[in-house]
Amino acid sequence: MNNSAVVVEQLKKKYGDKRALNGFDLTVRRGTVHGLLGPNGSGKTTAVRILSTLVRPDGGRAEIAGLDIARHARAVRARIGLTGQYAAVDEVLTGRQNLEMFGRLFHLGGRAAKQRATELLERFDLTAAGDRGAGTYSGGMRRRLDLAASMILAPQVLFLDEPTTGLDPRSRGEIWESVRALVADGTTVLLTTQYLEEADNLASRITVIDQGRAIAEDTPEGLKRAVGADTLEIEATEAIDLPAVAKALARVCAGEPSTDDAELRVSASVSDRVAALTEVTRTLHDEGLDIADIRLSRPSLDDVFLQLTGRRAASEEVVR
Ligand SMILES: Nc1ncnc2c1ncn2[C@@H]1O[C@H](COP(=O)(O)OP(=O)(O)O)[C@@H](O)[C@H]1O
Ligand SMILES: [Mg+2]
Repeated sequence: MNNSAVVVEQLKKKYGDKRALNGFDLTVRRGTVHGLLGPNGSGKTTAVRILSTLVRPDGGRAEIAGLDIARHARAVRARIGLTGQYAAVDEVLTGRQNLEMFGRLFHLGGRAAKQRATELLERFDLTAAGDRGAGTYSGGMRRRLDLAASMILAPQVLFLDEPTTGLDPRSRGEIWESVRALVADGTTVLLTTQYLEEADNLASRITVIDQGRAIAEDTPEGLKRAVGADTLEIEATEAIDLPAVAKALARVCAGEPSTDDAELRVSASVSDRVAALTEVTRTLHDEGLDIADIRLSRPSLDDVFLQLTGRRAASEEVVR
């Protein structure tokens, strides 16, 4: 039995002179969420479009669920779902009508389409809003409706192309919940994202893509280890407090805190952000030390790129 839901070898795709994919490799294990992390213009959507048989590659090959995408396009299509940044939800129809329409499109009978719509509204927490026009939905509800539409046929492999780009943190969290529920039910997910935090939260493995090529593949932990963990930074009110602040921070971090005398700042990497923050504030309080500011920051896609390529993510504005 093949353990891989997706196998991609040396995919190539050119648009004019632009190499959107330039020998892209990827393997996604069955039943997992695999993150495809890269900046704007790095080739994520091109890869997803090729894998979902919407676009033909110029070279290379790919298999979904053991089926070659070129030779068995129709069988591949029957096994996948796709949610794009611009999904085909009709704003005039209600959420329920949209889902029923997709059901009919996928050749479900009227009754089956209705039943599936009801199930999916329930599952994506849209039952209460189901009979309202989709045009009135918030960004997060709209994305959940997109997700629901891509799940009509309970696909084996689901492609989620930047499902949370532009959403507020709360809606983002709701989408993450939905994705986890899908995977718990056995769906394999290929998730493209520009957020390291998102890939970290959802994916068991992450492939980093840059200029149409995979430049790294690792677990989120491995990637973060290479890049550096979360940083806890404290700004003292007075220079004289710096040693004591550094000492308090040293108790909760792995390495040695570093002190910036000019900026009155002490910072260190921490592995458990909440525990570190809680403990360090307690210590500061117990010792009667006042501070000007305290901040936690997570490593970003930029940090990953800086580490892997020595340059910032070559983000490209894609206007379409
Ligand atoms: N249909 C297209 N026509 C011309 N160029 C395209 C087209 N689709 C993508 N590209 C170009 O290919 C590169 C990769 O794009 P894309 O796959 O959309 O990246 P991402 O999804 O990572 O932002 C970009 O330089 C983009 O401008
Ligand atoms: Mg894209």
